Amino acid sequence: MIEPDALAARLPRDFTIGVAMAATQIEGAVTEGGRGRSTWDTFAAQPGRIIDGTTPEITDDHFHRYREDVALMRELGVDAYRFSIAWPRIQPEGRGAANSAGIAFYDRLLDELLEAGISPVATLFHWDVPEPLQRAGGWMTRDTASRLADFAALAADAFGDRIDKWITLNEPTTVTLNGYALGIHAPGESLLFDALTTVHNQLLGHGLSVQALRARGVKGQVGVTNVHSPVVAAQRGFMNAQFAKVFDLVHNRIYADPVLLGRYPRFPLLARKEFRALRETDPADMAIIHQPLDFYGLNYYMPTRIAVGAPTEASTPDGDAEAMRDLPFHLAEWPEYPKTGFGWPISPEYLTASLRDYAARYGGSLPPVYITEGGASFADVVDSEGRVDDASRVSYLADHIAAALDASDEVDLRGYFVWTLLDNWEWAAGLTQRFGLVHVDFDSLVRTPKSSFRWLQRVQSSRKR
Ligand code: FCB
Repeated sequence: MIEPDALAARLPRDFTIGVAMAATQIEGAVTEGGRGRSTWDTFAAQPGRIIDGTTPEITDDHFHRYREDVALMRELGVDAYRFSIAWPRIQPEGRGAANSAGIAFYDRLLDELLEAGISPVATLFHWDVPEPLQRAGGWMTRDTASRLADFAALAADAFGDRIDKWITLNEPTTVTLNGYALGIHAPGESLLFDALTTVHNQLLGHGLSVQALRARGVKGQVGVTNVHSPVVAAQRGFMNAQFAKVFDLVHNRIYADPVLLGRYPRFPLLARKEFRALRETDPADMAIIHQPLDFYGLNYYMPTRIAVGAPTEASTPDGDAEAMRDLPFHLAEWPEYPKTGFGWPISPEYLTASLRDYAARYGGSLPPVYITEGGASFADVVDSEGRVDDASRVSYLADHIAAALDASDEVDLRGYFVWTLLDNWEWAAGLTQRFGLVHVDFDSLVRTPKSSFRWLQRVQSSRKR
């Protein structure tokens, strides 16, 4: 195990260590302060969608307990907090003037953060499409991109003087794959390759939002967050390599290439038809999508192994998806790696590989990089002495932060945000996956720092600044 002071000694003086959370997963209070419904409220209310039947209604009740949560961050000693601004709190109908009670909540949160000396990093879109926009088609509709940019402008006017970093989108890949292609996440569509329309519309939403933030003169830096999963073929052979390439396009390149290089990647003959939605786009859109960025956010959780042949089990890392059965390839196991509570393979070396992939693919077009999420779920319990000993999470974080630093000779790496501060509502997995540095009892809502919290606290306090 890497000792806190040994890791601290490796961290550059200005390297940001932060924690990340997202509105739907922590806030609760879904009908307070004039908040509108989001696509996740609707999805969670449908029977069978969320593994334990829970909803965003209460989660961590952060809306009421944000002071306690910021105090925890202060105690932890993190440099920055990445949170998301709930779109339906600011625009309950997805359009029109800002809801002042929604603005007031984030004003209070920002005051608290600045008072604690924690740098605010705000994500605009962390998956909570306002329900009226979802009914109009959500990301299948081009108009949603302009609506996001309007929301960005309102957020810029309200918070532009205090937010240090803006992230337009969080993991558009996950929205497309889980939400529209495989039906595991809201809005629960199983469109397979027809879901690719949502890629372009989200990217357009990103570009228009960058323009809107800059037009309003925000003081903070502007970037985007994509999730990267290095893709490898399970076996040798042409078809395995081809399908691995297709999955790399679907999961990684179709989001990163347009943003960083100003074009969609070349699509293999094998899947030209499937990628039609992205081959026939207006070139003028690309100029909007391809904005210079101040930084690039990369989330890393795990690599992907692809094998030829329809799956025998319809499982994905985020849940079962019947639609998978119609594909000519499947996601293969990683028997050589230990697993998180979610069953995700633990392999820090692929984080180093992800960063090296980025350096190789994007070279001088890659701005400074932050790992905007990384972490693991385990079945943590509070013992009889009130302690939560999560040694597996300590190793996970130590190994992954170290693995990220291993690539800093090739990538201008500026920080790592731990997913996440509090155990929270993990989308379709409900309250069953605990990712936090702090344990939350979901009945009493009592917060109990785990040993990983104490470990990270020691890392931060051992750093020379
Ligand atoms: C990421 C999401 C984040 C959280 C983690 C575990 O894909 O961005 O909200 O659910 O996974």
